[in-house]
Amino acid sequence: MKNTFGNAITLTLFGESHGQAIGAVLDGIAPGLEVNLDYIKEKLALRRPSGTISTARVEGDEFEIVSGVFNGYTTGTPLTLLIKNTNTISGDYLDFKDLPRPSHADYTANCKYHGYQDYRGGGHFSGRLTAAIVGACAILQYALEKAGIIIGTHICNMQNIKDSDFTDYTQVANMRNRQFPTITEEAEKQMKELIESVAKEGDSVGGILETCVLGVPVGLGEPWFDTLDGMLSHALFSIPAVKAVEFGAGVTFNYLTGSKANDQFVTDGKTVFTKGNSNGGINGGISNGMPLIFRCTVKPTPSIYKEQDTVRLSTMQAEKLQIKGRHDPAIIHRARAVVDAMTAFVIADMLTVRFGTDTMAEAINSIKNAKKN
Ligand SMILES: Cc1cc2nc3c(=O)[nH]c(=O)nc-3n(C[C@H](O)[C@H](O)[C@H](O)COP(=O)(O)O)c2cc1C
Repeated sequence: MKNTFGNAITLTLFGESHGQAIGAVLDGIAPGLEVNLDYIKEKLALRRPSGTISTARVEGDEFEIVSGVFNGYTTGTPLTLLIKNTNTISGDYLDFKDLPRPSHADYTANCKYHGYQDYRGGGHFSGRLTAAIVGACAILQYALEKAGIIIGTHICNMQNIKDSDFTDYTQVANMRNRQFPTITEEAEKQMKELIESVAKEGDSVGGILETCVLGVPVGLGEPWFDTLDGMLSHALFSIPAVKAVEFGAGVTFNYLTGSKANDQFVTDGKTVFTKGNSNGGINGGISNGMPLIFRCTVKPTPSIYKEQDTVRLSTMQAEKLQIKGRHDPAIIHRARAVVDAMTAFVIADMLTVRFGTDTMAEAINSIKNAKKN
């Protein structure tokens, strides 16, 4: 099992959904980064369920930073963020060890860990652990924002409902604090209606998140194997329920010829830009200075209340599964906070790899200097 990710900076994740606590350790981060507790709380609030379109399991997500921060700044030593679990009803989940939920990790975890895994509420494989990712990476996200690197994500598609595309930088920045992030109000209304209607049927729905990252300097990414798109994909695919990742024109490159697909170079005499951005800001695995654009497809929540087929593992007999417990009819709006957090992590890591393995503060200063040159 690999619960640590990253090169110059590493993120280690631990805990179980219904255990004592979940948490994350960030190692390799710079000393001297400001730790803004309100900012961390805001990001956690974006991931938390809320309103009629979400699960009734609302955790307070009260976090403690138990190491690596002193007098409001990072010390440069391992930073541990801990979130205690308070709102757990394990009885609702007891059957899943023997009656695995289709499309969840119950069956695969049981096979891999020979029944020793903590299966309560999905255990270590629950979406609950993403709260620790969001909390810890918010520290990096805040540092990046201060260096002018802005990450914004919206729900661009939910079945046939389409939000409008990002057309200006303000829209990207505006998405950061939207609980249900769509550019148009009409898309938000229609998507929420769809979620409510599938919820009434005891069903669930997924969708596509589109992320734009502004202010990324040229030169991030380590070909061949730690390319920027490769590292981002690795990070994004670690988010439970993310089933596809594409950059720029992505799968629609299939329909384009080279003359339409190529992002032609232009200049204002000082900087090189591209006319379009079909490549999503990455060429050869290296950032080209244009906004990063990528999309993650999030599948429908596996735990649905409709009756489903499963197998009782202890007797190997077919059985019907009727899920109880508290589950979201859609998780896409909550997954957005996790996508932003993992994106911040990868950019901070790749910046540190490129501009200085010791300090991200140095990396941030280097971007500011590089922008001046
Ligand atoms: C923020 C977030 C919350 C989630 N909440 C739930 C949930 O309440 N019920 C559920 O069945 N799956 C939930 N999931 C999805 C499952 O964790 C995920 O589908 C499962 O671990 C299997 O992994 P896979 O979909 O990547 O194969 C959530 C995912 C995220 C990112």
